[in-house]
Amino acid sequence: TKKISIAIDGHSSTGKSTVAKQLAKKLNYIYVDTGAMYRAVTYFALQSGCFNDVELNEECLLSKLNSVDIEFRKQANQEQGEVYLNNKNVEEYIRDMQVSSRVSTVAKLPEVRKKLVEIQQKMGENKGIVMDGRDIGTVVFPDAELKIFMTASAKIRAERRYNELKEKEANVSFEEVLANVKERDEIDSNRTHSPLKMADDAIKIDNSNLSPTEQFDQIMKLVEEKI
Ligand code: C5P
Repeated sequence: TKKISIAIDGHSSTGKSTVAKQLAKKLNYIYVDTGAMYRAVTYFALQSGCFNDVELNEECLLSKLNSVDIEFRKQANQEQGEVYLNNKNVEEYIRDMQVSSRVSTVAKLPEVRKKLVEIQQKMGENKGIVMDGRDIGTVVFPDAELKIFMTASAKIRAERRYNELKEKEANVSFEEVLANVKERDEIDSNRTHSPLKMADDAIKIDNSNLSPTEQFDQIMKLVEEKI
C-alpha cells in the first residue's frame, strides 16, 4: 500500500476530528487538527490583550505574530499530538466558548493563515497524514489523494457540541452553542481568504443520520480505493 494525504474539511462541529482520529489510528498516519492551531493563536491574542470583548485589534495581534510558536507534540498516552503555544500545552484552554466565539475573527487574517498553512504543509511533506479543517483540500493540500467534505444540519451539530461542552462549562446554553456554530459557518464561508468551500474533487458526506461507525466505514472504503 502507498501512503496518501487525506483532507477532511467541513462546517463546524461536524465530527471531522472524530473520524480523522479514527482514520489516523487505523492507518498509522499522523493526525493534525488545524482548528486547534487557529484556536491557539486566538488564545494567544486573548492572553496578549488584543481583544476588547469580542473585538479584535488586528494591529495588536499582527505586531506580535512573530513571537507565536505553534507546534504539535506527541503525547505518551495517545496517538495524536496536542497543540503547544510557545512551549506550553494549551489544549485545555482552546475549546471553550471564550475562544470559540473569537476564533473565526482571527482565522480571517491572511497573515495568520499564511503562517499556519506553512506549518501544516511541512507536517504533510511525507504524506501519511490526515488533516482536518476548512481549507485543507482547497489550499493546504490541493493534491491530496482523498478529500472529504463533511456536513450535517446546524441543529444536530450544535446538539453534539453542546453535549460535549456542558460537562466542562456548566453555564453554557444550547442556544448559545447553536448561535456560535451558525456564526462561525457564516464567517468561515464568506471570508475573502481561503473561505470554507468544498473542493471540486471532494466527496461530500452528510452525517446528520449516520452513526460514527457507519461514517467511519464509509470513509474507510474510500481510503481503500486509494491506497
Ligand atoms: O475545527 P474547529 O471548529 O476547531 O476550528 C475553529 C475555527 O478555526 C473555525 O471556525 C475556523 O474559523 C478556523 N479554521 C480555519 N481554517 C482551518 C481550520 C479552522 O479557518 N483549516
